[in-house]
Amino acid sequence: MTKRIGILTSGGDCAGLNAVIRAVTLRAHYGYGWKTIGIGYGTLGLLERPANARELEPARLDAALAHRGGTFLGSTNRGDPFAFAMPDGSLRDRSGEVADAIRALRLDGLVGVGGDGSLAILRRLFAPTGLPFVGVPKTIDNDVANTERAVGYSTAVAIATEALDRLQPTGASHDRIMVLEVMGRDAGHIAIAAGIAGGADVVLIPEVRWRLDRVVGHIAGLRAEGRTSALVVVAEAAGQSDEAADAATDAPGRGVGEWLAQRLARTTGAEARATVLGHVQRGAEPTAEDRLLASALGVHAVDVLAEGRGDRMVAWWNRQVIDVPLDEVVGRSHTVDPDGALVRTARALGICLGDAA
Ligand code: F6P
Repeated sequence: MTKRIGILTSGGDCAGLNAVIRAVTLRAHYGYGWKTIGIGYGTLGLLERPANARELEPARLDAALAHRGGTFLGSTNRGDPFAFAMPDGSLRDRSGEVADAIRALRLDGLVGVGGDGSLAILRRLFAPTGLPFVGVPKTIDNDVANTERAVGYSTAVAIATEALDRLQPTGASHDRIMVLEVMGRDAGHIAIAAGIAGGADVVLIPEVRWRLDRVVGHIAGLRAEGRTSALVVVAEAAGQSDEAADAATDAPGRGVGEWLAQRLARTTGAEARATVLGHVQRGAEPTAEDRLLASALGVHAVDVLAEGRGDRMVAWWNRQVIDVPLDEVVGRSHTVDPDGALVRTARALGICLGDAA
């Protein structure tokens, strides 16, 4: 009998999701003769009645899909079915409705494409259905544990690097300090990688405690050497350990890029401008690297299901596609190693990390 597998994308979108959906559908069809059911808007689609789901046609998933950004299935990073916000403001556990929808779709297995938060929810949600579930890691933040790469990260780094390439000439033309705030949630992966690739002078990440006076000192040193402009990359979650008297009321928090530009202008006397890259990092066409990763992980996810295994996440490790227990993924985070290769490279290039210590 033909098997039916479901696929959904959950959490914030990123480049490469369509390539995962395509790879899963093609592998299921050509490798095993299975049908793939695409579920719309992550778990929200499973709360609709009838469920928002449709069979994906392999013939329609051509090359155009592999290079399209976003997810054609739709996604959500709201509406946790275990604590679903109702119109009256109350929270309701609607997880049973999701399990019912999965049973009604007569699926034999599920692939969920998500970050660590989504994978934790999906795993818990689908456990009562008894269906094998395989996760595919995606997030521009690249913070999923036990995989070296998550789908979407390469593209986000490419976009942030391109932004630095564009900020450099305008900063140099006006003798300005150009601050670029990048996403990454609680991790500095995008910031450190783009900072190195884009030739930044300063990179500030949550994993390295930094102080404003160290950044000011570094920029002053550059100016003393004859440099008139500077490129600064700051991760959105990079707090700082400045012992300013007004730290409680004047902490960077959200909007650290704008905060930093204002402080740098005030303390160095130079003009400074902030650019907050935001969702631009998510919406682009995936890089070739993201398409390759998406394709390899998507294929392996189906193979894991074909072997009758579940509760796994496919992962990229040491140039290989592997799979790991979801138990070793959820609740953990993969942040930048402060002693790792990228941080060491940045330091060796003379990039200031603002070290507080
Ligand atoms: O996790 C991906 C991400 O883009 C983070 O980098 C960022 O902090 C967050 O999602 C933004 O979420 P939203 O799309 O809800 O504004």
